[in-house]
Order: sequence, then C-alpha cells, then structure tokens
Amino acid sequence: MPDPSPTLVLLGGGGDLARRMLLPSLCHLDMDGLLPEGLRIVGVGRAEGDAASYREEARQAVESRETIKAKAWEQFAQRLDYCPADVTKPDGAKALAERIGETGPLVIFFALSPSLYAPVCKALQAAGLTGENTRLVLEKPIGHDLDSSLAINAAVAAVVPEERTFRIDHYLGKDTVQNLIALRFGNILFEPLWTSRVIDHVQITVAETEAVADRWPYYDAFGAMRDMLQNHMLQLLCLVAMEPPINLDPDGVRDEKVKVLKSLRRIQPNTVREDTVRGQYGPGNVGGKPVKAYADEVGQPTRTETFVAMHLSIDNWRWAGVPFFLRTGKRLPERRTNIVIQFKDLPHSIFGPAAQGDLVANRLVIDLQPDEDIKLTLMNKSPGIGGEGMRLQALPLSLSLAGALGEKPDRRRIAYERLLLDVFRGDRTLFVRRDEVEEAWRFVDAVADAWDQTGMVPKTYAAGTWGPSGVYGLIERDGHGRTWHE
Ligand code: BG6
Repeated sequence: MPDPSPTLVLLGGGGDLARRMLLPSLCHLDMDGLLPEGLRIVGVGRAEGDAASYREEARQAVESRETIKAKAWEQFAQRLDYCPADVTKPDGAKALAERIGETGPLVIFFALSPSLYAPVCKALQAAGLTGENTRLVLEKPIGHDLDSSLAINAAVAAVVPEERTFRIDHYLGKDTVQNLIALRFGNILFEPLWTSRVIDHVQITVAETEAVADRWPYYDAFGAMRDMLQNHMLQLLCLVAMEPPINLDPDGVRDEKVKVLKSLRRIQPNTVREDTVRGQYGPGNVGGKPVKAYADEVGQPTRTETFVAMHLSIDNWRWAGVPFFLRTGKRLPERRTNIVIQFKDLPHSIFGPAAQGDLVANRLVIDLQPDEDIKLTLMNKSPGIGGEGMRLQALPLSLSLAGALGEKPDRRRIAYERLLLDVFRGDRTLFVRRDEVEEAWRFVDAVADAWDQTGMVPKTYAAGTWGPSGVYGLIERDGHGRTWHE
C-alpha cells in the first residue's frame, strides 16, 4: 500500500495572507512541479463554504496577480479543499481532523492572529492533530511583546517540539536576503573590512509607499516597530552584523544571530528621544495622488506609529562605536529596501587641496527591493590633463544582479515559495528559532516601555515624505557628516 499523501492545512485559509501570498505561492510551486506528490491543501476558516467555493476564492486570489493557464489551474484546484471550522474550539478541531482523515505528513500553517495561537494549539492536540507527523508553521508576529511570545512559544512547545516548529519571517525567504550570507561569507574581500576600524556606520531602510488600509485592525494594535522592526529589520541587521557561522546548518546561523540580538544595547527612557523617532502619516501625496491620513483610515485618532527610525548600538568587539541606523515606514516616497555600509574617511589624503572636496568615503549599497543591485563607490581619477594636481571622482562599481545572472526571470519568486518548500523538506535554516524571537522582543519591549514612560507619541509626517523631520537629526546629530543615503 502506498503511504498516504501529505496534507497542508491553512488556518486562516480565506484571510489576507492566504489570498495575497500563500495560495499564489502554492499555485506557482505546483506549476513548477515542486509540490510534494499528492499534496492536499485544506483551507480552514470560520466562514461557511466548501471545496467548490474555496477553489473559486483561490482562483480569484491567484488571478489578481496574474493569469494562469486553464490546465495548470485545474491541476492546482484539484488539490484544494475547504473545512469551515472554528479551530480555537475542540469541536472545530475535531471537525478538521475528520475532514483530513488519514494523511501522511501534516503541515499546519497558522495564518491567524497570534492571540489565537495558544488556544488553537490546545484544540489541535485534543483532536489528535499534533502527532509525530505534524509540523506547525507560525506566521509573525509571535506575540505582541515578550510575555505574550513566551506564552505562545510555551503553548506550541507543549504540543510539538522545536524541531517541528517553523516560525516564518518571510524576509528570510527572499533570495536577495539570502544573498547577504553569500556576499559576506563567499568572498574574502569583505570580511577583513567588516569591522569598526573601517566601517563608520550602517543604514538599513525598508520604505513602503502603501497605506495600512484594510489591515488597520491588526496594524493599529502593533505599529511599525512591532510589525517590521522586531522581525524583518532585526533579521537584516543580524545577517549584516553576525560573526561567520561555523556552517549553514540551521543552528549554525541562528546561534550567531542570537548573539547579535543579545549584544544590542537596550534603549532607555533617558536616551529614547535621541535614539528613536516615531511618526504617523498625515494626509499628503504619494505617486502624484492625494492620499488620506492614517487616522482617517482607522476612523479615529490613534497613537500607533506608521514610521519608526532608530539608532542602535551593538556592544561587542566587532561593532563597538559603529552606529546602526534603521528606518521603516508606510506612505514614504518610494518602495525601497536597502543596506548601506558606509566606510570611514581616509586617514590621510595625499591628493592636495584641489582634490580635497572630491574625496568621498567608500560606500557599499546593497539594494534588496524593488531592484537587486550591489554598488561599491570607489574613488577614481577624473579624466583629463587640465588643472593643477590630480582631481578625483567617486564612481560606482555596480553589479545589477538581474542582468548579471543571465535572462531576467519572468517573475520574481514570492518569498513564501522557498519557505513552504523548506517546510515540506524539513529544513529549518531559514526559520526563526524560539530564542531569537524572544531576544528581539526583549529589545523592542525596552523601547516600548521607554516610549510609555516618557510619553513619546508619534509625530505627524506628510504622506509621501521620508518621515518626521527628527529622522535627520537622529543620524546627523553627532557632527560626523553622516546623513541618510537617498
Ligand atoms: C509584512 C508586514 O510582514 O511585511 C507588512 O506585516 C509589510 O506591513 C510587509 O507591508 C512588507 O513585506 P515586503 O515583502 O513587501 O517587503
């Protein structure tokens, strides 16, 4: 008898994440022949429905991104089923277990509000759905602060061990983010320069033009620091700052990331006004169109930040004295995710007064989104023979990855495709370990406490600008000539 086929259960199967990311990712994996053979996908939600209505919902979700050929769609649709159930309740989980029936490996994806994770784990266990064959996939944010994340992690650990727990941070599924590891540890050039002796500071920007819009009920309870910085941005920071891992095994990389998180200096009430900026978008213009204020999307005044910037310090040998500046926000002028490594000025110039103003310190800019590009600014001689002395010019050595890697693919893979495949394969390298999540919350909780204690509320910025004006003071304040890379 062949082994029973595997099943993927999408809790929150009709929700925003499933529609925008998970169903399109799964459909693409299917078209590329990468899904496990016989995989059945069961969407679960509280809304009434059946396999036919779910297939139609899924078709609309997938086709809102692109048109899929009828044959490919049919093949994918055959995998889809739907189970209306409230899985926070024992009866709901039991109904799901009956619907799943006999199955091979079972993957249960929590695309739910984190406040439901603990009761759902309990109900799934009672329904016999957390046996040795089960892997749980948890979407970020894991909790709202350290205490709630500890409670969730404990509730999960009570039903499945860490080896079968997959905490998703979709940034780790992006090729460009994985490329940071290749760039740093696949080249001998960078490692000797990756130190406070040569690097002046680091900037990490994740800028979005979109509004919060329909997601405000979730977002308003979290804000930019918990939605983006606690996870995606601290993960980027860890990949830039970590020591070389001993290997690429899941724990090799994660051990090093945890050390970085533990070395982050805690922001205190007496430093919070200098080291952080909180903003909320007011009305403004984005892409030439007038847009409304965040508070108008919510429908009432709110103190949630839609922008946050921070000056972070990593207290270890490598990074002592090197500031890391992070900023992220909604309704900014452009979509851009990048990392800027700003090197120090030359210790001494031999080029004489004429070239004095030409000298620019080297800078490595790693663009992750929307375009993938790596640029290293180097000083060159300006061409020509006129004038006295040698004149210099800063020019970028540029590697446009899309061009360099041959034909541009028809589309960029969705980060979830890689991560879903890794869950099926059981590879945890690109997933966040329990202690990583907890350390990141420790850091973020200290900031949130400091904001509360000092009454630091968000400053309004016009939609379509780079945040409240204080964001420039944050980086320019200490007179080293630093400024944001625009
Ligand atoms: C999500 C956040 O985790 O990441 C969203 O909840 C944000 O608020 C999104 O828009 C950004 O992801 P990406 O891949 O578009 O940069």
